[in-house]
Amino acid sequence: MAKKYLVTSALPYINNIPHLGNFIPLLRSDIYTRILKLQGENVLYICATDESGTRTEIEAEKKQMNEEQYCKIMHKKIKDILDWFNIEVDYFGRTSSESNHELTKEIFLDLHKQGYICEKEIALLYCPNCKRYLPDSYVEGTCPFCKQPGAKGDQCDSCSKFINPEELIDPKCKLCGEKPLIKKDRHLFLDLPKFSAKLQKYIEENKNFRGIEKNLPLAWIKDGLEPRCISRNLKWGVKIPLDGYEDKVFYVWFDAPIGYIAATKDYCDKNNLNYKDYWQNKDTDIIHFMGKDNVPFHTIIWPAELMSNKKWNLPSRIYSNEFLNYEKGKFSKSNNHGVFCDDVLKLKYNSDTWRFYLSSVLPEGKDSDFEWHEFMEKINNELIANYANFAYRIISIAKRFGQITALDETGLTKEEKEIAEKIKENIDNYFSQNIKGNLKESLRNALNIGSLGNQYFQKNKPWELIKDESKKTEANHVLWFSFCILLNTSVLLHPFIPTKTKESIKQIDLEFNPNNALKSKIPLMIKKNIVLTEAKPLFAKIQDDDIKELKKRF
Ligand code: MF3
Ligand code: ZN
Repeated sequence: MAKKYLVTSALPYINNIPHLGNFIPLLRSDIYTRILKLQGENVLYICATDESGTRTEIEAEKKQMNEEQYCKIMHKKIKDILDWFNIEVDYFGRTSSESNHELTKEIFLDLHKQGYICEKEIALLYCPNCKRYLPDSYVEGTCPFCKQPGAKGDQCDSCSKFINPEELIDPKCKLCGEKPLIKKDRHLFLDLPKFSAKLQKYIEENKNFRGIEKNLPLAWIKDGLEPRCISRNLKWGVKIPLDGYEDKVFYVWFDAPIGYIAATKDYCDKNNLNYKDYWQNKDTDIIHFMGKDNVPFHTIIWPAELMSNKKWNLPSRIYSNEFLNYEKGKFSKSNNHGVFCDDVLKLKYNSDTWRFYLSSVLPEGKDSDFEWHEFMEKINNELIANYANFAYRIISIAKRFGQITALDETGLTKEEKEIAEKIKENIDNYFSQNIKGNLKESLRNALNIGSLGNQYFQKNKPWELIKDESKKTEANHVLWFSFCILLNTSVLLHPFIPTKTKESIKQIDLEFNPNNALKSKIPLMIKKNIVLTEAKPLFAKIQDDDIKELKKRF
């Protein structure tokens, strides 16, 4: 069977409208997938909403809805946001789906049968005031390891160690501030120490894991893994298929990643495919995008879940991103700090404008900031100056000709041959940077080609040639070659700004198939005459006053 790729983005929690920082993995996986498609690869992009757990119970209660109604409404809201941003996910599933419940039980029973699950009586935090067991994320206290305040019940943001909730120092209920009581109950644990050797081998031998995706899990394994509690005293979630556990469900992080498989299955069932071709066939690369706080779950717990039964494919590549901050602070809905995806939909900028800006500040390798001023600069001085204006200028001039006759490569001048060579280099880098997860660099390569085009155009001055009857052929040549550079730029920018690049290619009357456009020989050369219609600017400049107002508002 031929090689396939299954790309996923960390499943967004159902109870939040993502802010631009949460949106980063969704955008990165979309761009990555689109770039693979340009190369003609067979790739499926899967995502879903992460619906189990207490957050859902609490939020639904606040809205006076049952969990099912609440999740249905929120799922639609989040899906609408993805659509608006042109996130071309092949299937956007839900972890509350029947398929996820079934697969979660299947995987759990396999783990159980093979002795990877242990039972322990543990102390749990129960808020007497709220009358509920407190989920990890609703308890706050001081980290027992690094002694920093603000640690959550399951993980410390400062030292990023896993914490068992009862170990938290000075715990408080985040809902009401009350000190929780400690109650004892029997719970299920994933016996992670039994996976240590296998996990270590898997991570060490995987050449694609680099940086934090490699170092973090290896350091943890070295420190010694601990069994991890996977059951919760809740109603909303996947029921535990074991006697004595009727009143409990699985911990949200146990069933959430299985949602990747379940959503693939739902997609496949609808399209007459078999999900096992993706998840059990060794020719498929499983590729996960996520924020860096998700790395421990995806490099330790998730592979362990899959290891019980040798049939499952393990993740081949993991791409995590650092944090995107907002004007040097954290995004926070409660403090009205930052832009959330639902705000974006109401502003006047189109989705490509947002996609371009976010792509140019992706927090790859280090944290980055959303800044309104920079938003304006990147759009006006890069997107518009480098690409949109270039397109507009060539078309405006060529339009006076009505039609541009296509030439072929044999007639290229020395200068043009050099440019073609540089374009090829940039395209090669564009692909290799993408595979390394440096999508911001791929964008750079696309823009480099735009710059080459601008320089060529500026130097050869077709607007002057066109005035001179004896230089008509030369003018046609320069315009044709400029269009070739423009086409290469548009195709490479397509994964970043899909709508406007399509529009641009259409303006010059060319066919474009995003599923294999760059499978053929590069750089692309235009081989048919170009009939020109109206030149329309692709983007509107962003005004300083608007930016000042937005900065105040958010
Ligand atoms: N909902 C989690 C978060 O936003 C991510 C879940 S990813 C999955 O942090 F692997 F569990 F699905
Ligand atoms: Zn409380």
